[in-house]
Amino acid sequence: MNSGTCFLRPVRIAGTGSYLPEKVLTNHELEAMVETSDEWIASRTGIRERRIAADGELTSHMAAQAARRALEQAGVAPADVDLIIVATITPDTLTPATACYVQQHLGALNSVAFDVSAACSGFLYALEIARHSIAAGAFRNAVIIGAEKLSAFVNWTDRNTCVLFGDGAGAAVLLPSENGHGRILSSHLGTDGAQAELLNIPGGGAACPITLENVDQRLATLAMQGREVFKHAVNAMRRAAETAIEKAGLTTGDIDLVIPHQANLRIIDAIAERLEVGKDRVFVNLDKYGNTSAAAVAIALDEANRTGAVKTGDHILLVAFGAGLTWASAVIEW
Ligand code: ACO
Repeated sequence: MNSGTCFLRPVRIAGTGSYLPEKVLTNHELEAMVETSDEWIASRTGIRERRIAADGELTSHMAAQAARRALEQAGVAPADVDLIIVATITPDTLTPATACYVQQHLGALNSVAFDVSAACSGFLYALEIARHSIAAGAFRNAVIIGAEKLSAFVNWTDRNTCVLFGDGAGAAVLLPSENGHGRILSSHLGTDGAQAELLNIPGGGAACPITLENVDQRLATLAMQGREVFKHAVNAMRRAAETAIEKAGLTTGDIDLVIPHQANLRIIDAIAERLEVGKDRVFVNLDKYGNTSAAAVAIALDEANRTGAVKTGDHILLVAFGAGLTWASAVIEW
């Protein structure tokens, strides 16, 4: 249903799900591929291993698996889904949107489906769009998904980037709030397009099509000025976190669990220190999965939910940062 009725109502997360491909690629295995070491990767990033999708296993397949689990937990049938938003920078095809394939895989044929491209902040951008769409009465429910097959867009000969990324998907089902649990209290989004060149996939788009002449340069892979991005990440995520907490009428002392984007443990530690939040209140799983971009916060939220790391009534802060540059945050009462 996609009605034009306009009214505002609170929105909650009614279910979460995630999917990680089976294949594990360890830091030790990477030592055989590029000049690196487990010691360098673990001490500079906190990452120990990551998951790699199988050949033929696409972003849309992982997204659909995560969505199925979230829908099951929320008790929503695929045929009843109104809205599907997939956040990804590794779409199955440039067009149509990956969300269209996900709709097909799920059999959610009564839904509207589209993608958002906001890199690692994408899942929280999708949360914001879906939340306001439901609050305004335009849709009854939404499945938001962060899903990435970054292994297909990594230059496996570049040690500066290939050790950082992994594949996977996470999802959440949003419904109007009836009993208050999982209610989204506040959110905040930001973008700084002036820094677009710090982190991008330069080739493969209209600006730089892949040709026979440039094919050896691997331009359709992730390029990043890591040190610069690092500085922006810490500042932007701290500010985004503080803004969402303030909008929710809370203080950092009220936050029971911070679920940050999983790019680098040193970034996470720096943010926790600036927010004066103890490490026991910060959820980390990047040691197992690396940076899964738009999927990272979604996978972490599902793990926190299913392992009991968050309990009913807890205040959770979600905060992310990525290419664009983009940043986003949300406070949820679980
Ligand atoms: N193994 C061994 N040595 C390496 C490796 C590696 N895999 N990679 C780089 N090095 C070397 C460099 O060549 C450099 O050597 P040099 O001093 O001789 O020149 C040295 O290690 C230090 O390199 P730096 O880039 O300064 O290392 P840094 O401590 O900054 O860590 C990292 C790099 C991990 C990329 C860090 O800068 C970072 O995490 N940046 C932020 C990433 C991020 O948040 N991205 C945003 C989200 S991603 C998205 O949106 C898709």
